[in-house]
Formats: sequence, structure tokens, C-alpha cells
Amino acid sequence: RWTPDLKTRDWQDAREADAVCAALVNGELVAVPTETVYGLAADATSGTACARIFAAKGRPQFNPLISHVASLEAALEHGIFDARALALAEAFWPGPLTLVVPKSKTCRISDLATAGLETVALRLPAGPVMRFLSQKTGRPLAAPSANRSGRISPTIADDVIADLGPSLSWVIDAGPCAVGIESTIVGLADDTPRLLRPGGISRQDIETVLGHRLQGASADMRADAPAAPGMLSSHYAPDAAMILNALEAGPEDGLLSFGPDALPRASEALAEVNLSPSGDLTEAAANLFQAMRTLDASGARTIRVQFIPNFGLGEAINDRLRRAAAPRG
Ligand code: TXA
Ligand code: MG
Repeated sequence: RWTPDLKTRDWQDAREADAVCAALVNGELVAVPTETVYGLAADATSGTACARIFAAKGRPQFNPLISHVASLEAALEHGIFDARALALAEAFWPGPLTLVVPKSKTCRISDLATAGLETVALRLPAGPVMRFLSQKTGRPLAAPSANRSGRISPTIADDVIADLGPSLSWVIDAGPCAVGIESTIVGLADDTPRLLRPGGISRQDIETVLGHRLQGASADMRADAPAAPGMLSSHYAPDAAMILNALEAGPEDGLLSFGPDALPRASEALAEVNLSPSGDLTEAAANLFQAMRTLDASGARTIRVQFIPNFGLGEAINDRLRRAAAPRG
């Protein structure tokens, strides 16, 4: 475990930084914080390294991985960026946006990371550690969320260690992730820009830059189909059952509340976490996964969730909650 002091630049010269880079170049797995969630990172150019990610997560191999880069220049090496892709990159990178674009001729990302598709998912994160490691190793870093497949994504290092500890060469601890919910994925592989996964940047902000509405994922990208971005129906699942848009809470329930208005009988709940007492959706996103873990650990059989508006980051929050509430496969 390495806890770099990100307030200075000295962490980049620490001997741990060299050891982490050596591990990555050697094809090992490293848990790396980003502004969204902790990632399970490996050298995206190495099939062996990417295979280790799938094995550690217990992840179906048809589900492709996001590759993280250190600069727009590095992204252009692996993907073909048209005017729309460049506009989105300019507006939101570094930040919680992933672009799915056609692979370039110079793409070095392994077929295992792209699941054999002709497209590649690229992200330039705001979190400085991932960027630094990609820069220093000279490689794109494939990184899904650092949790076992189908479980809640980790926003603190301790949750990574609890879920995946034995598979990891290093865990880099940069404290809680500021955004707290995964990146927004926009598909730009054909004429129609698609919102493949709502996330840390709102649909409205992306539509403003594109100048028109975003389509949803097409039918062939849903359910268990190959290109399905986080679209397996049950995902982010806590052990407790989840009920959305609850109207009240009972003594056996965990209550996930939102905003200043308390639900009837809220005080009777076994445990309650309010995602944002002031009703701020950005704050709610940052608290979401930790709150689900807390309520799950409370011993509640059912987690009831108060209504959360579906605009801004609310769309991503409701997407994760619907998956958590979906029938378990
Ligand atoms: O915030 C995030 O995006 C985090 C941090 C670590 O960066 N990463 C993350 O990765 O959430 P992951 O692997 O859990 O989600 C990646 C999603 C997958 O659901 C996958 O289906 C989709 O991206 N994806 C990757 N490549 C794709 C492609 N070529 N076409 C369509 N979807 C793709
Ligand atoms: Mg994930």
C-alpha cells in the first residue's frame, strides 16, 4: 500500500512510484485511484496483463475495458477522433468522460482490452495518479472498477483491499474519490452519438457541447450483448434487496434518503444514510457507493431508496440504483 502525498509533487519521485511502474510494466495488477472510482489497472498493451484483470474480477471476457491515457496526444495514438470526439475531449478532459471511438492503425491496445471490437474506450482522467502512471510507463492503462464483477464499485482503498487484496501487487491510497460514480461513456463509433453509460458528467452538459440530443445505447448494445457498457442487468449489487422510490421505511429496513424531506416512519429504520441532506445531486453521487456499503453492512434485509430526480448526475445515480435493484442473475 502506498499513500502518496498529492499536495506536493514529491510523490512522483518516491521510490514507490518506481516500484509501481515496474510492476505495471511487468504485467502485474495495481489498484489506482481516479476522480470517479478506484481502478484495477494493468498494461493495456499486454494481453497477459489484461487477462489478469478479467481473472481477478471474475469478469465475463466479452465485456471490454476502458484504457486510461495521460494526454490527448496519447489518446490520438490509439483512437480516431472526429470533430465531435475532439470537441468532447476539449470540453471535459481530463475528467470523468470515456469516449468509444474507432481504433486507429497505430493502436497498441490489446484485443483482450477491446474484446476484439473495432472500437476502443479511452479516458483521460482528472485523477493525477492514473495519468502519472500512464505517462511514466509510456503505456495506456486498462482499468475497470476495482471490485469483483457485479459488486459495488470502490471509492476508498480499504474497500479495494477487502474485495481484491490478494490479486494486487500495489494499492495506491489517495483517499475518497471526489466524483464517486464511474465516468460517462459516449459512443462515437458511427453517425449517432450514444450515451452508453450515464456517469460523472451529465447528459445535458454533453448535449450542450454536441449541439444536439444523445441517443441511448442501441438494442444490440443492451443486456448481455458484447458492447454492453456496464449493462449487465444486475450490477453494483449489495447483499440486501433494494426497493426504489420507497414511500416509507420500516424497522427491518435500511433507508437511503435524499434531500431535506424525511419519509414517513424514517426514524423507525434500522439504519439511514442521507446522500445529500440539501438535495445536491453531485454530493449524492460522491456518497452513493459508500452509502450502499454502509446500509448493506447494517444487517438490513431490505434497502429502501427515496425518490431521486433524474436530471444532471441523478441519471447516473438512478442507473446504478436500478442495477442494484435488478433481479440477481
Ligand atoms: O470511471 C470509470 O469509468 C472507471 C474508472 C476506473 O476509470 N472505470 C470503469 O470501467 O468503470 P469498467 O470496466 O467498469 O466499465 C467500462 C465499460 C464497460 O461496461 C464496457 O462495456 C464499456 O466500458 N466499454 C469498453 N470498451 C467499449 C467499447 N469498445 N464499446 C462499447 N463499450 C465499451
Ligand atoms: Mg465496474
